[in-house]
Amino acid sequence: SNESVYRATTTAPVNIAVIKYWGKRDTTLNLPTNSSLSVTLSQRSLRTLTTASCSGNFPAEDTLNLNGKPQDIRSSKRTLACISSLRAHRKALEDADSSLPALSKFPLRIVSENNFPTAAGLASSAAGFAALVRAVADLYQLPQSPKELSRIARQGSGSACRSLMGGYVAWRTGELADGSDSLAEEVAPASHWPEMCALVLVVSAEKKDVPSTEGMQTTVGTSALFAERAQNVVPQRMAAIETAIRDRNFPDFAEITMRDSNTFHATCLDSWPPIFYMNDVSRAAVRLVHDINRVVGRTVAAYTFDAGPNAVIYYEDKDSELVAGTVKAILGPNTEGWDGAFYDRIANVTAP
Ligand code: PMV
Repeated sequence: SNESVYRATTTAPVNIAVIKYWGKRDTTLNLPTNSSLSVTLSQRSLRTLTTASCSGNFPAEDTLNLNGKPQDIRSSKRTLACISSLRAHRKALEDADSSLPALSKFPLRIVSENNFPTAAGLASSAAGFAALVRAVADLYQLPQSPKELSRIARQGSGSACRSLMGGYVAWRTGELADGSDSLAEEVAPASHWPEMCALVLVVSAEKKDVPSTEGMQTTVGTSALFAERAQNVVPQRMAAIETAIRDRNFPDFAEITMRDSNTFHATCLDSWPPIFYMNDVSRAAVRLVHDINRVVGRTVAAYTFDAGPNAVIYYEDKDSELVAGTVKAILGPNTEGWDGAFYDRIANVTAP
């Protein structure tokens, strides 16, 4: 009835790309210039928790509260795009079955909370939009698969489309102008490579300098290296890292991951004006990983950096003393320059 309050709660994980998404060919639909591939972290330390509710009794407008602060939903085109797609899917269900409550007509109330710093280059928008889409899809009891929902989440934040699935997830660029084939798909479940671990080193929990959309547009418009990466470098790397994942070949996985992080940051430096996401502490982490790999005599660790100074280091649990132990000893949470560290595993996303 109109007085009832309908509600759904969900959590969504962070994903950290090993082949980076950087550059949009369509800024409205969030269509990428290159495919990307990420690893979904368990929700042990980083996650978004979102509750979506609706009722005929709610005040007329949709609302969004993020970490205790009301957001101006009307100025967020991306949030509006996600909500209107989800509502259209619900409306289609109601049109087909008149016994269903008319939830599509009710105002929505969305309350979302991160257990980690927002917009610090810790993929908060990925977990945030994935949780929003999953929560509203659950509230509306939509039959769409995670792959189909990834099309909606992508419009919130590109990387969010990869947080609807667990394990190793590819986001294919797609070819169509309407973006209907620009979707995320699972390459391998977490159980395929259970030894994989991630260490998130928080260099700074401050808000990042240049938001990713703005940074991407500067890079797309001014860097010649960017076009080279998107057209000639990433396609081979996507194929090679998928093979490394299939074969659980850590040295190959690690080298491709590190090289792609470096190439992505090189395109930022090649932008005009140049964009710097990594800082001196980030570079110390890069040197440390190369030192560990050299001293051990095999590749046991891989670093990657998103649009911020924080490092994510991948390693296999048999090497956790070597890698996490050494990193913690040298750059650990109590060392100046570091705000903290999270240890994490790769996980599946469990369907509600
Ligand atoms: O999803 P966005 O618009 O916040 O962009 C994310 C970009 C990177 O994190 C740097 C790379 C990636 O693939 O996640």
